[in-house]
Amino acid sequence: MRYRIHAVGRLTGGAEVPGDKSVSHRAALLGALADGPTEIHGFLESEDCLRTIAAVQALGADVTRKGPGHYRIQGAGRHALHEPDDVIDCGNSGTTARLLLGVLAGQPFWTMLTGDASLRRRPMARVAEPLHRMGVTVVGRADGTRLPLAVRGATSLRGGEFVTPVASAQVKSAILLAGLSADGPVTVREPSPSRDHSERMLRRFGARLTVADGAVTITPGDLRGTTVQVPGDISSAAFLIVAGMLVPGASITIARAGVNPTRTGMLDALEAMGARIGLSDTAEDGEPTATLAVSTSRLRGTTVSGALIPRLIDEVPALAVAAALADGVTEVRDATELRVKESDRVAAVARELGRMGARIEERPDGLVITGGSELQGAHVSSGGDHRMAMALTVAGLVARGETLIEDTACVATSFPRFVDVLNALAGHEAITVES
Ligand code: S3P
Repeated sequence: MRYRIHAVGRLTGGAEVPGDKSVSHRAALLGALADGPTEIHGFLESEDCLRTIAAVQALGADVTRKGPGHYRIQGAGRHALHEPDDVIDCGNSGTTARLLLGVLAGQPFWTMLTGDASLRRRPMARVAEPLHRMGVTVVGRADGTRLPLAVRGATSLRGGEFVTPVASAQVKSAILLAGLSADGPVTVREPSPSRDHSERMLRRFGARLTVADGAVTITPGDLRGTTVQVPGDISSAAFLIVAGMLVPGASITIARAGVNPTRTGMLDALEAMGARIGLSDTAEDGEPTATLAVSTSRLRGTTVSGALIPRLIDEVPALAVAAALADGVTEVRDATELRVKESDRVAAVARELGRMGARIEERPDGLVITGGSELQGAHVSSGGDHRMAMALTVAGLVARGETLIEDTACVATSFPRFVDVLNALAGHEAITVES
């Protein structure tokens, strides 16, 4: 599948972004571990999250789709799950694979996990190692550090303190999920705070969890089913926000976007670049939400590094598009993690946006983007990475001439209606989808 894109002269109106991917995965996994029913509203029905639904079903959870984005999981407690009779395919979804390893840590049977070519390249040692220390067996390719992996958990794991070398919510969450089955408290320390959706949701499901001095501690125990309202995904909103800033004469609002402070680094970075982002209708039901308002803005370069990186890790491809058109230089540092996402996003951003005329220098841990260039339509590729496909689409909406993006089916992993939403804001078919 590919997208053919022409520049747009306007972008106006209200948009809704789909449910948050991170929150949707967690709701399905905790619902499957809990005692009693869990109702999930606003679940993201994308390829990644449907992998998690299929995984918990394979483990014996009873899942009913009651309507669009509305799921009911009839949990019978974490001891009621059973050995799946086939390999679980996590597709492109790192969150499915890593959080599932945490769930399976407490299950006394063998499960085999695999994924697509991209996921099979991604590092799993960061989760396998702490789980080993807790008493879980994880074996597989590359000495048990790459999918396919086979995992055998146990009903009583060793608790203790775990220091993660990277600020990764997937690693933190896997350890916390395993901690539910430990013989004592489990504490996770990370170099800087990553997204805290697991902490919030575990509490909502009745887990005893404390956060002090940057460390999260969970007390082993059972979960009970609850109701989850999934907020709109700020990472999906990021593409619309950048488009709304770059397209001349644009003015858009995005309703019910998640504004969890561990996820809003992109809003902070854009504000540092001179953008004004209006927040209204703020609400909180487990996760904070707000309506965001953005309009065409003149941007200047900035530096993003350190503790800001985990708060905008998925937004760097979108940020790079904004930086390419800003005045001055933008530096992205301390972001080596970008190299082990769905693709090597440092290399991909520099290469593909470079084809469109952006001046981007690749660094081992980030990017130096010299703004002020005019983007030219070009023939580019997502490399199978959904966030690259969407960032290149936004670039295409402000580039001179036609942009052709190859390999765009991956957008369905996180934002299945992306093209429809943008075309509705544009008021015509600025993006056409070709098979
Ligand atoms: C996620 C955490 C982040 C992020 C990913 C989703 C999560 O990954 O990039 O898209 O849901 O926990 P890391 O935890 O590996 O940084």
